Amino acid sequence: METIWTSTCNITHRRPLMEDIETEVAVIGAGMAGILIAYLLQKEGKKVVVLEANEIGSGQTGKTTAKITSQHSLIYDEILKNKGVEYAIQYARANEKAIREYEKIIIEQGIQCDFRKCPSYIYSENVEVMKAEAEAARKAGLDATFTTETTLPFSVAGAVKIENQAQFHPLLFIKALAEAITIYENTKVYKVEEHKITTDNATVIAKHIVFACHYPFMRLSGMYFARMHQERSYVITLKNVPQLDGMYLGVGENGYSFRNYGDYLLFGGGKHRTGENKFGGSYERLREEAKKIFPESEEIYHWSAQDCMTSDNIPFIGRFSKGKPNWYIASGFQKWGMTSSMVSAMIIRDCICNIKNQNADVFSPNRFSMNDIGEGATTVGKGLKGVGKRILPFLDKQPKDRIPIKKVTRWCPHLGCPLEWNPEEKTWDCPCHGSRFDENGKLIDGPAKYGIEKK
Ligand code: FES
Repeated sequence: METIWTSTCNITHRRPLMEDIETEVAVIGAGMAGILIAYLLQKEGKKVVVLEANEIGSGQTGKTTAKITSQHSLIYDEILKNKGVEYAIQYARANEKAIREYEKIIIEQGIQCDFRKCPSYIYSENVEVMKAEAEAARKAGLDATFTTETTLPFSVAGAVKIENQAQFHPLLFIKALAEAITIYENTKVYKVEEHKITTDNATVIAKHIVFACHYPFMRLSGMYFARMHQERSYVITLKNVPQLDGMYLGVGENGYSFRNYGDYLLFGGGKHRTGENKFGGSYERLREEAKKIFPESEEIYHWSAQDCMTSDNIPFIGRFSKGKPNWYIASGFQKWGMTSSMVSAMIIRDCICNIKNQNADVFSPNRFSMNDIGEGATTVGKGLKGVGKRILPFLDKQPKDRIPIKKVTRWCPHLGCPLEWNPEEKTWDCPCHGSRFDENGKLIDGPAKYGIEKK
């Protein structure tokens, strides 16, 4: 699936790992998080290799809207209410440091990646909610204001504006950083045991292992399967559009995302839990909305993205679990992968280099909350609902003629949930944790490690 990023950047390919190696740090995943983690650790003198199942930046990094911002929908009011002001300050400070670190690297390395500083906005029809978020963001230390003035082509009841945020071309950025990093592409990790990683053709022995592979594929360790699900969302790139002064996000179920890239505009929305798109229509709804807002616009690209969602809306960054002191995780970025990738790189660098990080606690993967129980129960419910449909097929409302002739098994190889056919993208999607497979059963997205091809 071509995006505006993949069509404007070619990254030199690397060979797969074919021989057994030893290293100080092995990073699994060569997306934005994996590359940044490797880059910052190398700067500290660590010997690092990166293992990538497909190609550099071929996962969500090529599908992001590439907003680099501390403004993550309504997060500050939520953290303030649920965890207190100290955690809200940590969250804001970590993300602001991430933005400044991007800027510093881009200037130091002279990276041409269309980095542009601009404000970020969220908007809503609910003025009180916007005022509360602006106040919470200010308490967290951000330069946030409530406003009704935007450059959107429609009026809004209220918005929160945060100054000094940024946007860029994500693949041009990681292409430049990747040049100095040892990366093995088409090297799929099948097993991780303490310090040993087993890939298709070779093994890696590493003192430290970092899982920067989107959704961790380990089944039980850390219990991530019970604390995280995945969501899909859709983006169309338009031409003949106005220039906005910054990046925008509408708050709520039907909120839309806006950001310019050059003369174009990335217009996104239509989120839903993976495995819950059995009637399709997501792109059409987005296109209809785009025509209403930008009648002169013309579509040039469309694509979809997949995000890991935690039960408390805060990423999991840090030590993987209490029982695995030399494993680390960077996951659960919600829809804020660019800033969260840099936050991950800074926290994991500090963990491995024994540097105190004053922003790490709020992201600790070892936190558990009551929300985790709800997330786990929802996942079990999805699994049972699917089993019910298999036993009592009349419960399945999806038109049968849309489901392709079975070339695949319909049980997810991750933890056995029944898969749902997604007619829009012609994929089999798992509603439990978000694994996806093409119509022939080939694995597209994990946490599953294998496809579902019928033998
Ligand atoms: Fe976990 Fe399918 S992704 S059961």
